[in-house]
Amino acid sequence: MSAGRRVYVKIPASTANLGPGFDSLGMALNLYAWIEMAIADKTTIRLYGEQMEGIPTDKSNLVYKVAQQVFEAAGVDHPELDIAMYSDIPLTRGLGSSASAIVGALVAANAVIGRPLSDDRLFQMASALEKHPDNVGASLFGGIIAAFWDGTRAEQLRIEPEDRLEVLVAIPQFQLATEKARHVLPTSIAMQDAVFNVGHSSLLVAALSLGRYDMIRHAMRDALHQPYRAPLIPGMSDILEHAVDHGALGVALSGAGPTLLALVDGEQLDAAGKAQLERFLLDTLQGEGIAAETLWLRPCLQGAQVLTGFDPLCTLIENINAHHPHRTVRIMG
Ligand code: HSE
Repeated sequence: MSAGRRVYVKIPASTANLGPGFDSLGMALNLYAWIEMAIADKTTIRLYGEQMEGIPTDKSNLVYKVAQQVFEAAGVDHPELDIAMYSDIPLTRGLGSSASAIVGALVAANAVIGRPLSDDRLFQMASALEKHPDNVGASLFGGIIAAFWDGTRAEQLRIEPEDRLEVLVAIPQFQLATEKARHVLPTSIAMQDAVFNVGHSSLLVAALSLGRYDMIRHAMRDALHQPYRAPLIPGMSDILEHAVDHGALGVALSGAGPTLLALVDGEQLDAAGKAQLERFLLDTLQGEGIAAETLWLRPCLQGAQVLTGFDPLCTLIENINAHHPHRTVRIMG
């Protein structure tokens, strides 16, 4: 173990559920957060970027606390840390920002102490922290993840998204806490709704695994959470109903929302078609008085990775700008 090791981790955003796969399907997206971590004499936490507003810089910081869990699990004692964080992932919009922080903290802390914990162990810890494995599984492993967490153990399998799969997200300007979006869900559901979701989620997994993207429009429907969340997001019901008529393969609420996500076959939909779909999402939200921003994303095939080549004499943001100079993400506050 090298006590002086300084590590840099890049973590992808994620979308959870993909419609019917409530708490069980996730996909990593090419929008990122970065965490720098080293053992220090005194804890310092530096946050860069607008997405970090309001995040604590003392020992109540989530990344700091999760890192301590790694040290405890590994049987080492390292209470003081130097941490820096930067993220392009908008907070509380349904794009897995908290999962990216948890996964980043686990991977960084494990790397700082020479990686004694396996990826599976980190996945178990992440799932227990989030209470569902969809976002954390995608951020940790990349690609599309089918998973469950039964309260004790999580299991996952990865599905490879094809190159032609593109993702349009419409990110409303308002924030929606996951807790609030889970609070509106019923505590029990009718058998027919459970059967509906088992069928649709199964078909969606098969369609994604087999590259049968023509089936996504039939499969990407949900009766467990989206109907209950729709009143929190004006325009959502219209978008869910009509986006496939505007070129989407399928459409869903991204995680607990409020972001809406449309899957697109980039080989089938040309630039004019993409512009039309984008316009439909924005116009529908705007018609309800909701300002939103769209981003064209892609599935991210790589999960959280420990980076090499960052210069410890530079700040985290200087390193990110040097290695990723063309990031154009500007999410409204
Ligand atoms: N599966 C979760 C939900 C994702 O829909 O509430 C949000 O964390």
